Amino acid sequence: MDKIIVRGGTPLRGSIPISGAKNATLPALAASLLSDTKLHLTDIPHLKDVTTMLELLGQHGVSITIDEKLGVEIDGAGVNNTCAPYNLVRTMRASILVMGPLLARHGRAEISMPGGCAIGSRPVDLHLRGLEAMGAKIELSGGYIRATAKKLHGAHFVFDLVTVTGTENLMMAATLADGLTILENAACEPEVVDLATCLNKMGAKIEGAGTSTLRIEGVERLIRAKHTILPDRIEAATFMVAAALTDGDVVLTNTDPTILESPIAKLRDAGALVDVDLDARTIRTRSSGRLRAIDIKTFPYPGFPTDLQAQMLVLMSLSEGSGSVTETIFENRFMHVSELRRLGADIQVRGNTASVRGVGGLRGAPVMATDLRASASLVLAGLAAEGETEISRVYHIDRGYERIEEKLMTLGANIKRVSG
Ligand code: UD1
Repeated sequence: MDKIIVRGGTPLRGSIPISGAKNATLPALAASLLSDTKLHLTDIPHLKDVTTMLELLGQHGVSITIDEKLGVEIDGAGVNNTCAPYNLVRTMRASILVMGPLLARHGRAEISMPGGCAIGSRPVDLHLRGLEAMGAKIELSGGYIRATAKKLHGAHFVFDLVTVTGTENLMMAATLADGLTILENAACEPEVVDLATCLNKMGAKIEGAGTSTLRIEGVERLIRAKHTILPDRIEAATFMVAAALTDGDVVLTNTDPTILESPIAKLRDAGALVDVDLDARTIRTRSSGRLRAIDIKTFPYPGFPTDLQAQMLVLMSLSEGSGSVTETIFENRFMHVSELRRLGADIQVRGNTASVRGVGGLRGAPVMATDLRASASLVLAGLAAEGETEISRVYHIDRGYERIEEKLMTLGANIKRVSG
């Protein structure tokens, strides 16, 4: 298993491009199952989760052509298998995204109960209830969800809570359902908007993306389309935190500052200097020389993203004073705290709140990644720590960050990956 070894203390300087968003790529790939013609996607990031989704689509019978420069062309014409097996689904919870499209176009889907990051129980009950409201019959047996429907019909469904992949699953299913579907308390995440844009290019009729009410008028079939995936806001914000906590000066290119308002505001509150150029689609982040404690509470978009709280805990560990992070989306999402403590961070967790007291500095140590965003926080901590930090189980980070050590090396970080 690969390890990442970081020697901290170098201020990051330079410019790096932001990759396409993982969380927009996965549903867009799944959308190919809705169509019997080609979908051409560009700005697809090189990530383990993307490979897993392509593998899953391949075994459903989707034909896939990958061109490093031109992107990925996927063709759902030959879909002949509606089962998403345990060995693939267990590594990636987002595999559940194939359920809505398979059911809508092929009348059935058998999906292994999803796994993914070990951050709480993460049920999929709302995906299932929404599909039931659209006429699906759902059975759970042998670790599989078995969904069938001759033809889905439109429905009025109110989500009990905001779910990103739940919204995406039902939105995709509704594109081919008979009649109008209205989804309320829908997720407003930019990745949901990106999927709606992609589906509309494919001939779907979706209105209201980016608001909490989606109106989807079902169509007979989807058409050939081309779509460019939006830039990854979590990757961008992770590099912004890296710049701030190493006393660096980093310019991100190919980014979209408009979907980063909450992280940018919090970074500014924490003492980082952030300059945004909307026309050039760049963000420059520098340290003001003095980091201040802040309080953060995670919320669905446009609130502060849960996928960024682990990284912010590192920044706050190096700030003056005491702050807190309250996690409202997932239970059990503070597993990185015990590893950060090994580096000298002073963080106490009580219930869903982590209280952080800033310490003068961190010291390198061997640590272990526990989930995707937790592993990013350990890399950040290593960049700021004195001495060497060895991070094991970095396969978690490869699920969601494209060539993280190469991008950090470009910025001057002393970081390497070793196999072993
Ligand atoms: C997506 C993102 C993930 C991000 C999360 C929250 C993808 C591929 N992943 O995950 O990076 O951390 O949104 O922004 O886009 N819930 C239920 N029942 C359901 C569905 C969800 O109770 O049927 C709960 C979950 O347990 C959690 C909350 O709703 O507490 C939000 O989860 P959800 O938005 O569904 O997360 P994902 O879509 O899996």
